[in-house]
Amino acid sequence: MSKRNKLSKFEDIMSYPNVYQNFSPKEIMPMGQGGKVVQLKGKWVEHFGDQKPITLELACGRGEYTIQLARDYTDRNFIGVDVKGARIWKGATMALSEGLDNVAFMRTKIEVIEEFFAPNEISEIWITFADPFLGKPNRRLTAPDFHDRYKRILIDGGVVNMKIDDPTLYEFTKEVLAERDDVKILYDRDNIYSQPLDFPELQYKTYYEKSHLEKGRKIKYMRWMYV
Ligand SMILES: C[S@@+](CC[C@H](N)C(=O)[O-])C[C@H]1O[C@@H](n2cnc3c(N)ncnc32)[C@H](O)[C@@H]1O
Repeated sequence: MSKRNKLSKFEDIMSYPNVYQNFSPKEIMPMGQGGKVVQLKGKWVEHFGDQKPITLELACGRGEYTIQLARDYTDRNFIGVDVKGARIWKGATMALSEGLDNVAFMRTKIEVIEEFFAPNEISEIWITFADPFLGKPNRRLTAPDFHDRYKRILIDGGVVNMKIDDPTLYEFTKEVLAERDDVKILYDRDNIYSQPLDFPELQYKTYYEKSHLEKGRKIKYMRWMYV
């Protein structure tokens, strides 16, 4: 993507009513439309205008899961989270053009997710094709510290879903979960397309999933909750 194209996307999302951005994890200053500083932690009802349960898609990239879920589950609200603004632009633009008012995007590092969501504010999390960060396991979105963060923002009984191709991240996640005594695994398949899908929402395919499937990689899916 050219620098100009990227800059124009950054300008667009700054003007969008469905995108919030925090540029530095060291200085928490979430900005909404027009760069206005807004504090939505514990108050997402002020954005959505209702109390519907909120699902987060972490590492949302272009936001395919967020958009598809929002179309199919209009009784819920969805927030895509990613650090890359030019990717978020795609999903945010699509949500606006389709009039999906149950969708928002948060541009931030996920390491500081608790700055934007209060304890018990989230009912479900999706982690879609997160980076495996080979050689940097602490940065993986299923490293131990991330579970502590997810557990704190989730409601009791809230679930985490992870779809992944990468075998290293898949095995790492299983090991980290097995070491905890507060996790219940609800579902685990290492090749979901080898049999009919057990959940309709597994049929959605992100940009990265399509590319992994073209290369013949197996798609894995896990669902768990903290108890
Ligand atoms: C491999 S891409 C997957 C994107 C999308 N889910 C898909 O399947 O097409 C991983 C995404 O995670 C984002 N990401 C990785 N680490 C992150 C972090 N710590 N905080 C926020 N976003 C992160 C990257 O910016 C990237 O968009």
